[in-house]
Amino acid sequence: MASAVVDIAGLNHAFGIGNLRKQVLFDIDTQIHAGEIIIVTGPSGSGKTTLLTLVGALRAAQDGSIKVLGKELRGAKSAELEQVRRRIGFIFQQHNLLGALTARQNVELGLRVNQGHSRSAHRKSSETMLEAVGLAERMDYKPEQLSGGQRQRVAIARALVGRPDMLLADEPTASLDRKSGREVVERMRSLAKHEGTTILLVTHDNRILDIADRIVHLEDGHLSTFTESVIANNELMMGMLAKSRNKQDLDGLLEGLDEQGFEQMLHDMAEESRGFLQATSMANDLAFSSMLEQGLTAFTHRLARLLNADRASLFLVSKDHLTLKVAHDLESLGTIRIPLGTGIAGTVAATGETIRIDDCYEDERFNPEVDRATGYRTRSMLCVPVHDTRGKVFAVAQLLNRLDGEPFDEQDERRFAGFVASLGVIFETLEQLPGYQL
Ligand SMILES: Nc1ncnc2c1ncn2[C@@H]1O[C@H](COP(=O)(O)OP(=O)(O)OP(=O)(O)O)[C@@H](O)[C@H]1O
Ligand SMILES: [Mg+2]
Repeated sequence: MASAVVDIAGLNHAFGIGNLRKQVLFDIDTQIHAGEIIIVTGPSGSGKTTLLTLVGALRAAQDGSIKVLGKELRGAKSAELEQVRRRIGFIFQQHNLLGALTARQNVELGLRVNQGHSRSAHRKSSETMLEAVGLAERMDYKPEQLSGGQRQRVAIARALVGRPDMLLADEPTASLDRKSGREVVERMRSLAKHEGTTILLVTHDNRILDIADRIVHLEDGHLSTFTESVIANNELMMGMLAKSRNKQDLDGLLEGLDEQGFEQMLHDMAEESRGFLQATSMANDLAFSSMLEQGLTAFTHRLARLLNADRASLFLVSKDHLTLKVAHDLESLGTIRIPLGTGIAGTVAATGETIRIDDCYEDERFNPEVDRATGYRTRSMLCVPVHDTRGKVFAVAQLLNRLDGEPFDEQDERRFAGFVASLGVIFETLEQLPGYQL
């Protein structure tokens, strides 16, 4: 493994003293390796900028250990901090360009004087860097004559011109539209990959998450390894599926889980879906859609067992009809469609209300078509809507025939609805996968 460019252990940080003391970073542990692009996400006030400024030696570390580019920053003298800072390029939200200077002169500021290089050498490297960020035509413009995206690219050129070992960027795309934001990070990435520069980038911008090698999440000053574990789990699961695309494996895996384990798995899977939705470059992975699809089926069957029902099925809702997606003998059934508003599932889809029925054949809304096709005899039923994140009913989940012969009760309804909410996230991911047909 490459050596760690940043090695943080047990890092705590607080602002203020006495009664006003407020701890903002708690026990941070992480390592960043040479050439890695790490994105830090997290809500406003969670400590992202504080962490970035500590790594950048812009602020003195108080507690724990923070080694940057081989140097322990905690307790370091200011001259030592300065030395580390010189090896780092910074990009801030407000690009901090000097208005009186041209783009080229601003970039030249990124080069240290007394480096033994001539003025003309500085000028040359600045021009090369501005060309690299696509501003060859704008070298002599002042910041006010440049667009936001162009200014941000000048800031990138300035941050990179001194060939830093590491680049720290705080919300570099915050003031940019989608297209220029994308361009800015792409430039950062390609320049950095070219030079082997390590990048630590703070962002709220979900649209650029896919440039990261790794995403870490700060919440209330705690750095979560959640995304890492999500990615690790996913790789694990993909690996498992790649080895055997056999549904039985997933069923077997789920079989061994107790209710809590199952809930956790469902939750992880839903979170994974979310993560992948964000990392759009990975979203068209076939293995992933196959995993979700298998997961959907396995989960639905597992739900039936968990809630002591004989069977469970799942319908997907489209504009005017429902399609049976998961059912006991789906393969032999072929495609089953039900018009929206008819049958129990169709009514749930149309109204968004849960329906519990003690005896379906006593209920005039019940459509016995599926029973006829399967030779099954439905008695009791619990039928709940599955909402997407915008609140639209997207699917309908059904439990059939409680095994003890009793009707489904309120507790069943609550538990089923809880599980099914996670399924909604999985569906939504599937729906958004390019080229995937639900
Ligand atoms: N110099 C300071 N003095 C006192 N408190 C500070 C100082 N700088 C930051 N804080 C506090 O520390 C917490 C973390 O701030 P920080 O700027 O690191 O958050 P952030 O995650 O970067 O937020 P945002 O996404 O809004 O930029 C906040 O509660 C903030 O009010
Ligand atoms: Mg900040």
